[in-house]
Amino acid sequence: MKRAAGKRKRMAQLLDGKVLSAEVMENLKARVEALKGKGILPGLAVILVGDDPASQIYVRNKGKACEDLGIRSETIRMSGDTTQEELEAVIDRLNKDEGIDGILVQLPLPKHLNEPAALAKIIPEKDADGFHLLNCGKLLCSLPGTQPCTPKGIMYMLKSANIPLSGREAVVIGRSNIVGKPVAMMLLQENCTVTVCHSRTQDLASHTRRADILVAAVGKAKFVTADMVKDGAVVIDVGINRVDGKVVGDVDFENVAPKASYITPVPGGVGKMTISMLMLNCVEAAEKRAAL
Ligand code: GUN
Repeated sequence: MKRAAGKRKRMAQLLDGKVLSAEVMENLKARVEALKGKGILPGLAVILVGDDPASQIYVRNKGKACEDLGIRSETIRMSGDTTQEELEAVIDRLNKDEGIDGILVQLPLPKHLNEPAALAKIIPEKDADGFHLLNCGKLLCSLPGTQPCTPKGIMYMLKSANIPLSGREAVVIGRSNIVGKPVAMMLLQENCTVTVCHSRTQDLASHTRRADILVAAVGKAKFVTADMVKDGAVVIDVGINRVDGKVVGDVDFENVAPKASYITPVPGGVGKMTISMLMLNCVEAAEKRAAL
């Protein structure tokens, strides 16, 4: 049956992380081949402490991506009662390993470990995640440095779709060091007017409804509902929540998508970009080694 005129549900354009990250990976494969031609094999080391189930999946996916690219990957699994000294000794060893270009400590670490101290141990040149204080500082000061993978992937998606950013209102929900704070800095760098909301924000919807670009990094399933979103907004969903065995984002996709101009799906959105950006950081580090 034909729908009555004007009744058709508008749907946002999908920002497809699967397609985009596949393009990034294809491009990286060529760069890896060029490096191999110079006798350099990029290498990534991932350290996983404890047995957090979500972290195990992320770490496995990172290893798989290395395999796809044909680069060296080393996963170091350490028990949940690992001491700070033991963790830092592994980081020290990897800092000195000439075949390793990127080191990543999967977060969160078990509570008894000092996360900032561990991240500070990674030499900035091998800081695949961009979490070292030097790289954080460079981001804050708009200087080139290694940037965190999820925010970098978000900016890659926005730019690939030619979404205008300058002068626009960007609202970020979440203030983590991994996503909220760095993506706010990157949006500011692109001349957005940026608001960072968090768990103590009063009247959250009054902020989110002003957003031309809305980034949800909350960690709560379907937290962002249609009434919180402005018509035509670009909605970036960073959430990976497991509900009844299904992965869902922080955005109520079904009801928000008809209102948005662009939206990222979960799965198949930002998560895919995080991994390809990690590979990009690693290949870039290897290219710097090759140029030495
Ligand atoms: N845990 C959740 N996201 C990330 C990430 O991007 N990097 C690391 N190291 N740990 C994480």
